[in-house]
Amino acid sequence: MRVRKAVLPAAGFGTRFLPATKAIPKELLPLVDRPIIQYAVEEALASGIEQIIIVISTGRSAIEDHFDSNPTLERWLEERGDIEMLRHIRRISEIGPIAFVHQKEQLGLGHAVLMAKELVGDEPFAVLLSDDVMLNPGGPPVTRQLIDIHKAHRGSVVAVQRVPHAEVPRYGIVAPVREEGRLVEIGDLVEKPDVDDAPSELAVLGRYVLTPKIFDLLEQTQSGAGGEIQLTDAIKALMQEQPVFGYQFDGTRHDAGTRLGWLMANVSLALESEVAEEVRGYIRGLDLRD
Ligand code: UTP
Repeated sequence: MRVRKAVLPAAGFGTRFLPATKAIPKELLPLVDRPIIQYAVEEALASGIEQIIIVISTGRSAIEDHFDSNPTLERWLEERGDIEMLRHIRRISEIGPIAFVHQKEQLGLGHAVLMAKELVGDEPFAVLLSDDVMLNPGGPPVTRQLIDIHKAHRGSVVAVQRVPHAEVPRYGIVAPVREEGRLVEIGDLVEKPDVDDAPSELAVLGRYVLTPKIFDLLEQTQSGAGGEIQLTDAIKALMQEQPVFGYQFDGTRHDAGTRLGWLMANVSLALESEVAEEVRGYIRGLDLRD
């Protein structure tokens, strides 16, 4: 069955970004000129996804507003003759069908995905955590790569990437049974292991293609690490019933969910934008001595 739908959880508190995220979701922080979540929406659409489902926190409508039309702004831009920006703004609200579901309580990523159960129905679907910004200029988007692996091998697929050994405690780490090129057969998943206990350096990053069986398992998943319903726990249960693969994707990942990662992502993306020359000049002029 084709992967037509994508779920983008965006209802977290974003505590690592407080106080910036006190009133606005982390997913709306800008990377150069676009909110973080817009990169993920564009990636999903470029991957052939036809229906985007964004999970938002009840009472926070700013993400919905971002993808809605803004007639007052459009009229103003039109009157000023700023046609290029007008087109840009219109493109965002014409981006395609986006459905919003609410997560009333922040019970974890697994719980956020479960909120999309009715809208996804009985078909495989993609999950994109937008604070992992995945770019693969000139090649297939990372979500597309996972969809192709799902097509070829059935089962579920998670995006994995080798991380420095010292950083394994920050991630879900894969215990590989077999590696064949970029494909990894997964024996187990360990959430945030100690450096000495990590079964590999292959970290699960924020892109997944999951079979709908995951919803039954999420319903049965008790809260785990941090008192949250973890997607990783449900994927571990899924592995007992169906194959789950890791795929070492082709592309660059920016961790825009942390302050440092977000700053670095902004610098990297700015160096590829129309202000690249000015940014390069600015960085060259900085006094970088200790
Ligand atoms: P994170 O683990 O990054 O949590 O969630 P967070 O709340 O966004 O940020 P910190 O850790 O407090 O700084 C991973 C993804 O899952 C979503 C987040 O919006 C993010 O996209 N999420 C998390 C939810 O939608 N609901 C939740 O209850 C928890």
